[in-house]
Amino acid sequence: MEIMELLKSRRTYRRFEQKPVEDNIVNDILTAARYASSAANRQPLSYIVVRSPEIVKQVFDCTRWAGYFPNDSGRPKSGEEPVMFIGIVENLSINRNADTDAGLAISNMTLAAWSHGVGSCIIGACDRTKLFGLFHLTEDQKLHTVVAFGYPAHTSRIEDAENNEIRYHLDPNGNYVVPKRRTEDVVCFL
Ligand SMILES: Cc1cc2nc3c(=O)[nH]c(=O)nc-3n(C[C@H](O)[C@H](O)[C@H](O)COP(=O)(O)O)c2cc1C
Repeated sequence: MEIMELLKSRRTYRRFEQKPVEDNIVNDILTAARYASSAANRQPLSYIVVRSPEIVKQVFDCTRWAGYFPNDSGRPKSGEEPVMFIGIVENLSINRNADTDAGLAISNMTLAAWSHGVGSCIIGACDRTKLFGLFHLTEDQKLHTVVAFGYPAHTSRIEDAENNEIRYHLDPNGNYVVPKRRTEDVVCFL
């Protein structure tokens, strides 16, 4: 896929087909994370790949979805759950300020996944205390986020934001629409 089309179509997905992500795609996702830039090239991140259905369910139970939607209605229902999670772990003894590194790695990972048609949802709203135990993390480690993956069961498209309305919504077919502020509204040329 051409890069701009890849960037435009790589959206957040919150309902998935119940079909595993193939090993070669998982390898590409992890290699893409490895290729990401890192402050002073310290590389403080490591990754926990969760693919076994029992542990995927335990991680899923620690996640919250689509905060703009009422009554948890954006949460994947039974038969729509992600089939894989990757936990992004910061090693605090290497760098205590790894937020940008994590963002770049997540961007690479989700783009690599999407280049194979695998959708994702970055999950910041997760129970880090429970996941700390589930992932067997140590005191010098911190969970940044988990990213959910799977083949999407819906579409998602960008539209121009009107009147500062940036909340995503569903169209009549249940597909996501994601308002983005226009370039001219967020860019200043000097
Ligand atoms: C740092 C970060 C944390 C996020 N956390 C969540 C989350 O906890 N649950 C969720 O459903 N979506 C989460 N998202 C997805 C955003 O809601 C989504 O990126 C946004 O609505 C724009 O949609 P787009 O990714 O298709 O552009 C997160 C995204 C980012 C970048």
